[in-house]
Amino acid sequence: MAANTDFSYIDKYKCDNNIVTIVCILLLFVLMINQLTFNEEVKAGTLGIYKKLKNSIPDIEWPLIAPYVYEINKLKKETNSIILAHNYQTPQIFYGVADIVGDSLALAIEATKVKQDNIIMCGVHFMAETAKIMSPQKRVFLPNLKAGCSLADSITGKDVIQLKKKYPGMPVVSYVNTSADVKAETDICCTSANAVKVVESLNVKRVIFLPDEYLAKYVASQTKVEIISWHGKCEVHEQFSEKDIRELRNNYPELTVIAHPECPPDVIKASDFTGSTSHMVQYVKKNKPKNVFLVTECSMSDNIEIENPTTNFVKPCNTCPHMKSITLKNILDCLKHKKNEILIDSTTIQRSRGSIEKMIAIGRQN
Ligand code: 13P
Ligand code: SF4
Repeated sequence: MAANTDFSYIDKYKCDNNIVTIVCILLLFVLMINQLTFNEEVKAGTLGIYKKLKNSIPDIEWPLIAPYVYEINKLKKETNSIILAHNYQTPQIFYGVADIVGDSLALAIEATKVKQDNIIMCGVHFMAETAKIMSPQKRVFLPNLKAGCSLADSITGKDVIQLKKKYPGMPVVSYVNTSADVKAETDICCTSANAVKVVESLNVKRVIFLPDEYLAKYVASQTKVEIISWHGKCEVHEQFSEKDIRELRNNYPELTVIAHPECPPDVIKASDFTGSTSHMVQYVKKNKPKNVFLVTECSMSDNIEIENPTTNFVKPCNTCPHMKSITLKNILDCLKHKKNEILIDSTTIQRSRGSIEKMIAIGRQN
């Protein structure tokens, strides 16, 4: 499925009031059938969350969202579960129900420390697999098992075996956005928060770096190590262009542009800073730019702006259909019915675990 280039994002809530009212009445009806009502208990129990979200969620929608938030938080405790959420999850998930939020590296690290019996991963399939590999004794659930990733889908374990035959003895560095089968054929994983550090840690002249062609190009621009790359691309980041940045700079003279390294090279060149989603959070917090354009998934700006009210977030952005297939409704289903569990055979767990452990040991680059 292709991502949407959504340049009318700012106007998304400005729909016709009558339609919104009808939809809300219908949804309230559905909630009542499901016995999820916006009563005094729910209102009081979600007040703190509402205060945080009130500028990003229209008032009229809160009575529909709050019962889910309340029920999920209640069930989470009752079932000894923890919710991990990636930075690309919507504010209602990110601030409403998640216990731990962060970039791909933070989620992989947190998965090694979990005390609860069940992990609900609000992210995509490879993130849930990584959590299962790092905590095989826990039950890991993904609220929508179809939440994939164009990068992870671009390569298989068999492809890696072929590459290793073509380049005998050359170490394989795999982006964490890969399947467990690919990780099982990998020497060390990386994320966009430590890719250069991981490549340089190997002390070799050449590495196979897969599957993201653009991240590979970015890493190659930051190191002397020669990079043999694959042809995978993120369907969200590949859609940004240098022209988008040029046009925005004309409209916003004091604009800081921060690009994710999954973006095409011309986009990265036209930006002021490049970094993982956590690097973006840190940059905005520290530098407090007047106007900022985060060249990445839409929820990133929605989530950061709540805690950075002095910065204006310029929001042409692209949505990731996989990340957005995680909803409060399927999180609740997952908790209630223990649906959508991630299962990986023990051999694959054993074979893939080392590559993630080595990445975690190297940690984050500045
Ligand atoms: P990070 O959060 O590691 O920067 O990853 C971005 C991404 O596209 C995850 O799917
Ligand atoms: Fe994959 Fe790109 Fe979506 Fe991240 S944003 S899950 S890399 S498709």
